[in-house]
Amino acid sequence: MIPRSFRHSAVAVVLLAASAVLAAPQPSTNQQIERRIEALLRQMTLQEKIGQLVQYDGITTDAATLAKEGRVGSFLNVTGAEKTTALQNAALQSRLKIPVLLGYDVIHGYRTIFPVPLGSAASFDPQLVEQSERVAAKEATAAGVKWTFAPMVDIARDPRWGRIVEGSGEDPYLGSMIAAARVRGFQGANLADPQSLVACAKHFVGYGAAEGGRDYNSSEIPEDTLREIYLPPFHAAVEAGVGTLMSAFEDLNDVPASANYHTLTEILRKEWRFDGFVVSDYNSVHELVPHGVAADDEQAGLQALTAGVEMDMADGVYDKHLAQLVQSHKLPMSTLDEAVRRVLRIKFRAGLFDRPIFTDVERARRDILTPANREVARHMAEESLVLLKNENSLLPLPKSGKKIAVIGPLADDQANQLGSWIGRGRAEDAVTPLQGITAKLGQQPVLHARGIDMLSLVRAQEVSGATGAAPAPTGATGAAAAGTETGPATIENAVQVAQQADVVVMVLGEPAGMSGEASSRAFLDLPGKQEQLLQEVVATGKPVVLVLESGRPLDIRWAAEHVPAIIQAWYPGIEAGNAIADLLFGDAVPSGRLPVSWPRSVGQIPVYYNHKSTGRPTAPDRWHTGYLDESMEPLFPFGYGLSYTSFSYSNLSVAPQVRPDEPLRVRATVQNTGQRTATDVVQLYVHRRVGPTSPRVRELKGFVRVTLRPGQSETVGFDFGQSAQVLATHDASMRPVVPAGTYDVWVVPNAAAEGAAGSFQVVTK
Ligand code: BGC
Repeated sequence: MIPRSFRHSAVAVVLLAASAVLAAPQPSTNQQIERRIEALLRQMTLQEKIGQLVQYDGITTDAATLAKEGRVGSFLNVTGAEKTTALQNAALQSRLKIPVLLGYDVIHGYRTIFPVPLGSAASFDPQLVEQSERVAAKEATAAGVKWTFAPMVDIARDPRWGRIVEGSGEDPYLGSMIAAARVRGFQGANLADPQSLVACAKHFVGYGAAEGGRDYNSSEIPEDTLREIYLPPFHAAVEAGVGTLMSAFEDLNDVPASANYHTLTEILRKEWRFDGFVVSDYNSVHELVPHGVAADDEQAGLQALTAGVEMDMADGVYDKHLAQLVQSHKLPMSTLDEAVRRVLRIKFRAGLFDRPIFTDVERARRDILTPANREVARHMAEESLVLLKNENSLLPLPKSGKKIAVIGPLADDQANQLGSWIGRGRAEDAVTPLQGITAKLGQQPVLHARGIDMLSLVRAQEVSGATGAAPAPTGATGAAAAGTETGPATIENAVQVAQQADVVVMVLGEPAGMSGEASSRAFLDLPGKQEQLLQEVVATGKPVVLVLESGRPLDIRWAAEHVPAIIQAWYPGIEAGNAIADLLFGDAVPSGRLPVSWPRSVGQIPVYYNHKSTGRPTAPDRWHTGYLDESMEPLFPFGYGLSYTSFSYSNLSVAPQVRPDEPLRVRATVQNTGQRTATDVVQLYVHRRVGPTSPRVRELKGFVRVTLRPGQSETVGFDFGQSAQVLATHDASMRPVVPAGTYDVWVVPNAAAEGAAGSFQVVTK
């Protein structure tokens, strides 16, 4: 668990101060809310109570009729000031006038689309992430939405899993910081504020550990790993006050997550004292039947509600079966009442009873897709880009004197800049890399060739046997929106265009539809003939900068060896092209860092930095942990990312001895040893040498962004109120312990670096 005070380190305090901004109606006190809940509950019929626990997809139902009858507590997928107002007015005609909670997947922006979540996590900048979600909340609520199914806080160690794009990567500490920041951003200081959105931490829990990276697949997670790796971001979200959680699809240790009493009730409600509600994932109550733990929907409904799933998304199981379950005494009324209380509590906290309609067409026009919102998206996109390679300082490129060619199927494709789950984002709002570069270079002509067209990429993936839903082409796939289109989308043409240039910027990657739900991959290579395109352009001898757009690390072994400069851009959102151009030409300095270890090849997966030691740690001889035919090291480690300057780390200081209840303070000096003012992400890792259970080789316990001028150095401090906050682990009986003994500590630029190192003793007697 991440104890509350853990987030009150010197680093976190600044973020908290920045979030308390909006003036809002006074929230009701908890006592007032509890009184109103009980008064309402007393008046409710069985049917009305059940109604509160039912959520339907507004697209597939006669929403207004159901709302008037009080048979539904929530809808998803109804958006827009007019539509949501009409639906809320229908709900207000029901007997008890209980408003509906309107939910929508606002995953990385509503209309102003931000980088995909894995990209914004790469910023290691919770403050900017919070600001981005504030923008998303302002836009979504302007469109009448009051609840987002975000943040997705699933830890993912397997990039074959398409939904790695929706989370914050592999690390529980980074994941917790970002989770809390997103919750603060969505919910603001007061949930009843018309600009605040109820958040939903999902998918509880273990969904990201799907076997083989296959979506919806089972996960087996030992209890200590669950508690130390997969649960912390959820706990952080709960501590940040998240209103709701979503239960996951997968089977977790033999009990599907949507019927898992241990996680939903023992941990979430009892240990963490969560008092909001849990919604099932889409149809996941019914899916207890194909999971094989329920014989029919009636049993499924009973199991899910009893385990702690209060609201049933989409499948109608609660609607159809709860009444009978109560009447036959299989489901106690007290269980039902407790579920209803939790749903009503969030509706009260969200201010829906006092102000059910909080927007209109005028506000929507005013608040959505504003220049100020786009500016935040551009800043977030800049910080999300990770510079992976920059041989001989090829980057930044000069703004004049060199003829630039921009080549690749993603170079001028608007839709694919946005990524998966794009809310009400529109392709036409997006700035492509070609447009961004063209705008940056003013009058100078920019050459362009697609090399391969987007549709052929999507088809190539289908032919190569991608499982699950075939990735859909996501919009603009053809004509150049800017620059000079110089011929057909063939490799031959691209090579000719490259030959006319001094420098080639290649924008390659996955079509956006290849990431996200039901988008697992068995191969992580560049889809279609992109690798061939890259090789033939590199063979011209022109210097090449590769900009990769993808929702996951791809297999780029060839590129890493042969291409001098590589930027991982994820899907940067509507300001993609501007952010990329800012970085390419040095108007911004890269500061993104990898939130996941980047595998060399699929065979290494899972490869993550915070693994346990083995009895035979990796060594160059055969009888140690490793492969005969592949290195054990990832291509790029967790936390890695280059800058246009360099930094050095020294002088780590830490008290030689500390007790678990005493403060832990670590200090180190970081210096900018290069020529550019730039921001570094300074990372703190610890390692316990000996304890009752095998330790992880390193664990991230802090990070801070530091901006330094050339030559400037600064002392960076990490302060924890009690060392136990950083060092606690679980013994074999799952009791939290802080083992006595020696601990190593590093202040470093990434998980594999040596940087500044030291050690200290923990004494418990
Ligand atoms: C996804 C959820 C999403 C829900 C509602 C499901 O398929 O797993 O993450 O929130 O649909 O759209």
